Amino acid sequence: MRRAVAIGCGHYLPERVVPNSHFEGFLDTSEEWIEARTGIERRHFAAEGETTSMMGEAAARRALESAGVDAASVDAIIVATSTPDLTFPSVATMIQARLGMTGGFAFDVQAVCAGFVFALSNANALVISGQADRILVVGAETFSRLMDWKDRATCVLFGDGAGAVLLEAAEGGGTTRDRGVLATDLNSDGRHRDILYVDGGVSSSRTTGHLRMEGKEVFRHAVEKLAETAHAALAKVNLDGGDVDWIVPHQANLRIIKATAKRMDVPMERVIVTVRDHGNTSAASVPLALSAGVEDGSIKRGDLLVTEAIGGGLAWGSVVLRW
Ligand code: ACO
Repeated sequence: MRRAVAIGCGHYLPERVVPNSHFEGFLDTSEEWIEARTGIERRHFAAEGETTSMMGEAAARRALESAGVDAASVDAIIVATSTPDLTFPSVATMIQARLGMTGGFAFDVQAVCAGFVFALSNANALVISGQADRILVVGAETFSRLMDWKDRATCVLFGDGAGAVLLEAAEGGGTTRDRGVLATDLNSDGRHRDILYVDGGVSSSRTTGHLRMEGKEVFRHAVEKLAETAHAALAKVNLDGGDVDWIVPHQANLRIIKATAKRMDVPMERVIVTVRDHGNTSAASVPLALSAGVEDGSIKRGDLLVTEAIGGGLAWGSVVLRW
């Protein structure tokens, strides 16, 4: 059975680290409130002129290096982002050109914070259907450029960064012992579009706009839907929380991460947590957490991982993969 196996990963964080105390200077907030309500202690913000494609390229290069693979042998690049450099062309084609690739295909996926899970699931489909043998899947975002700096309920939550995973086709035995993507579960429900959106866009206002969120409502949906989708993906291959070595969750809020782990009966010792240092980096959050977990030695070859994420749309989903 053809499987899409992760053979490398990497991440990039901008140099500038912004601690919670930064916001006390211009907002009615406190370091303590931000940390207690979200688990976030600091985040990275892109430098002036530093764009999503630049960060995505850096993460992609590190993923290629970690796999010992040349960019020319990659068949496709999928980038999950809601903060592209330009309205078009895609960030994926920009990264393709910078990596010196003259063949293959590249495109962006937009499912906000769930973007990487959607991209990974689509990349898996392309690999198992035989349309590509090697795919770079990148999550890259500059959410700092979407913030309303007067809105304390949103601007303290987000950060910038990028992560990437390189998938390669391999023959598996068709069991859950195989390395690679084992199951995916994708969902969206556009009826909830008003609880998390950006109030600008090309065909409406011709502006970029600012992120708007009804935090409490999103929180409620997140706690319910993240455990549900993770269970659904695991159930497709007759697994459950007890089989999971690591949950690699979307890093939006430590309270959501803990509530999801509890619903899945997975102890926090088996959850990768980077929200303290990265904040919510939207589509970059899962590959950043994955790469950080591999780098610090937590995630080892053969471990069973489940990723889950939810974002604007609402869009949510999960992927089960053996590393
Ligand atoms: N500092 C101080 N007080 C604040 C701040 C702040 N930065 N932000 C909000 N408050 C206040 C509110 O104004 C409110 O005050 P009030 O009671 O006087 O009205 C009080 O704190 C409580 O506000 P809540 O919104 O109820 O706070 P809550 O505990 O729900 O935390 C938060 C807010 C952190 C936004 C939380 O709801 C959350 O994490 N929501 C989910 C976000 C998420 O998961 N997003 C994922 C997808 S993101 C994407 O797709 C782009």
